[in-house]
Amino acid sequence: MKAIRGAFLDFLDDPFYRDEREAVRYLPDGLLVIDGERIADFGPYGALAERHAKAHITAYPGRLILPGFIDTHVHYPQTEMIAAFGEHLLEWLAKYTFPTELKFRDKAYARSVADLFLDLLLQNGTTTAQVFTTTFAQSVDAFFEACGARNICMVAGLTGIDRPGAAPPDYLDTADSFYADSKDLIARWHMKGRNKYAITPRFALGSTREQLDRCGQLKREHPDAWVNTHMSENQKEVAEVAELFPEAKDYLNVYERAGIVGPKFTAGHAIHINDDAFRRLSSSKSAISFCPTSNLYLGSGLFMIHKAKSVETPVRVGVGTDMGAGDSFSLFTVLNNGYKVAKLQGQKLSAFKGLYLATMGGAKALMLDNEIGSFDPGKYADIVVLNPHSTLHLSFRAENAIIDSTLSTANQSFEQLRHDAFGMMMLGDERSVDATYVSGELLHPKAPASC
Ligand code: GUN
Ligand code: ZN
Repeated sequence: MKAIRGAFLDFLDDPFYRDEREAVRYLPDGLLVIDGERIADFGPYGALAERHAKAHITAYPGRLILPGFIDTHVHYPQTEMIAAFGEHLLEWLAKYTFPTELKFRDKAYARSVADLFLDLLLQNGTTTAQVFTTTFAQSVDAFFEACGARNICMVAGLTGIDRPGAAPPDYLDTADSFYADSKDLIARWHMKGRNKYAITPRFALGSTREQLDRCGQLKREHPDAWVNTHMSENQKEVAEVAELFPEAKDYLNVYERAGIVGPKFTAGHAIHINDDAFRRLSSSKSAISFCPTSNLYLGSGLFMIHKAKSVETPVRVGVGTDMGAGDSFSLFTVLNNGYKVAKLQGQKLSAFKGLYLATMGGAKALMLDNEIGSFDPGKYADIVVLNPHSTLHLSFRAENAIIDSTLSTANQSFEQLRHDAFGMMMLGDERSVDATYVSGELLHPKAPASC
């Protein structure tokens, strides 16, 4: 057995609906005991130390330890096209994205990018993601092979696009090839090791009605599969979808009619939607991936997080980098942008709300909260060790925090934590990530090669 000692933070409840002090679980001196891939025990060091006297303990003094981050929307084949200049969604897809993704016909290339992508995620403290691939089945094989080598939990699937004109002809699949390839990939990868399969129509604008119906068929045949897509990201896209699907009352209804909306369905973006769509997403128990970095980067618009997290029509929400439609793999950067997007709409996204979205909120959005998202024993030991004072400026800020000295010591420590957590959310990046554990193994930083 091994164990980690330090200050731990996770969530017992959703701080959007609960007082933050009750939602946050903070153990200033905790012990997390790992047996193989999973968490065997967790609690205050003083209470657990004797019981686990034989465990090999790694201590992280001065660090803050969280459940590994969860990126609910990201494109691994776009790793190389970070920071592409100047375009809105549809032009950006045509000019940069499809030419890049065409390279993923080559499986060896796909594998090399999948390896780099996973290393970048781990460097940023992300231990699970919901991932788009390409129309080429070998790009899915390459990705899941790379995941298997790390015993890491990823949700991914063949990313269908069959509408003539929506992508270059040699990038398109067909409704039938998409169905046949998806069936084969599900049989080979779904629930194998920690892999999870997502039926993935790329977006309504890219799919014919036949392809979306095939997605519905796949979902009926594999009800435990995930469904991942984009929705209502860009106004021009929304207008074109309305023209192509006149029978649907809105974008969401295109997916509803295909029979793919429900608890394991994630709509990426969902920016340009009305109250009725929020209500239907809530009642169908669907999830939304909030991708503020990408939404600002492509000039797509401001997601209404306050509507998604309303008491009346609550929707499960996770956060996504949506790389490469953006400029960072860091969920800190995503939360930084999320804070500003909320602010522009008169809302305040606190550090605890943000960190909830990046951990337990993401786990719940993906219906994976039985496996990941907190330190409850039985879950996988996917863990990130953060340095709240990783830069000169963050350290200076922390030392000079103004904390009400009339508060009790415990309350002062909670206020300091609030201050440090917000500092990291706004100023953190991969420099704040000291270590990332996946399935109980330290995967970042990599152990030095022995000579
Ligand atoms: N809509 C369809 N494909 C994509 C994509 O690759 N990125 C984003 N942001 N939106 C999309
Ligand atoms: Zn995307």
